Amino acid sequence: MSQKISLTRYLVEQQRIDGHIPAQLRLLLEVVARACKSISQAVNKGALGSVMGSAESENVQGEIQKKLDIIANEVLIEANEWGGHLAGMASEEMDSIYVVPNRYPQGEYLLLFDPLDGSSNIDINVSIGTIFSVLKMPDDDRGVDEADFLQAGNKQVAAGYCIYGPQTTLVLTVGDGVAMFTLDREQGSFVLIEENVQIPDDTQEFAINMSNMRHWDEPVKRYVDELLAGKDGPRGKNFNMRWIAAMVADVHRILCRGGIFMYPWDKREPEKAGKLRLMYEANPMSWLIEQAGGMATNGHQRILDIQPTKLHERVSVILGSKNEVERVTAYHAEKTAKL
Ligand code: F6P
Ligand code: MN
Repeated sequence: MSQKISLTRYLVEQQRIDGHIPAQLRLLLEVVARACKSISQAVNKGALGSVMGSAESENVQGEIQKKLDIIANEVLIEANEWGGHLAGMASEEMDSIYVVPNRYPQGEYLLLFDPLDGSSNIDINVSIGTIFSVLKMPDDDRGVDEADFLQAGNKQVAAGYCIYGPQTTLVLTVGDGVAMFTLDREQGSFVLIEENVQIPDDTQEFAINMSNMRHWDEPVKRYVDELLAGKDGPRGKNFNMRWIAAMVADVHRILCRGGIFMYPWDKREPEKAGKLRLMYEANPMSWLIEQAGGMATNGHQRILDIQPTKLHERVSVILGSKNEVERVTAYHAEKTAKL
């Protein structure tokens, strides 16, 4: 019987053999995984655990918070604040940053997360997940503030998500490819199921909220029109559409079998760059996608090269199989060239 590789062993080997991660980062990732295990338990209980439904509050984005959004946020904070590996945290569910209280040692890392992505799926028993991104505190910095978090995605030292679906699976990169670990509930540990995840360059599957079509910019409309034309259109092949309405689940599908995911800027609220948040949704997902051989842009530039100007900044997102993302990005460039 082939030996199972636990997340702990994978991380120890990343630290010891390959020298990819320092001990503090290994500890941080173990703690995040433990928190995800606990969120997974709460999610699984559903109505039996009195965790369903809305809390009577809104987050900084003006979205109604679900009880599980708040529970997941608290689980992540409580698990991470005392270990000495972090200086601060930032979350979709908190207006401002959370500085590690001074009763605990301060570490050199910053953790950003969307505690429960796709929370409109909670009450209908469809996949949701936790997305996270890890940055280093800038050197020579005393006292953490919001500016320390405003680093481009290419500065991430670890990123990943945990999807709570038919299986609970943690997907991780520390810059050495993408690895997937499924939670073995009997053992209570995450077990490696795939290393060096690779996304095919070509695909016949796309994900976009089609109900927004009338609001899209011309390059996105042009691209999707061509896909819908199928075999008889300019692409000469049929495409299929999937939309789970949880980024974590749509990205997971793409890492498993390829595809393109788009949540582009649209005309509904033109002053907003997009719907998704750069620092704890688009950046970690873009790095995973790139590490798996895919591509992620905002239509104009690589998402990972965007310099954030605020914590809850939004961004237009086009990511997945390389040849498709290149095409949509090229359509944006053609439009810009014509102006
Ligand atoms: O976090 C925002 C989010 O829930 C994503 O997970 C998802 O891709 C998107 O919003 C769904 O948006 P819509 O409600 O337009 O389908
Ligand atoms: Mn989200």
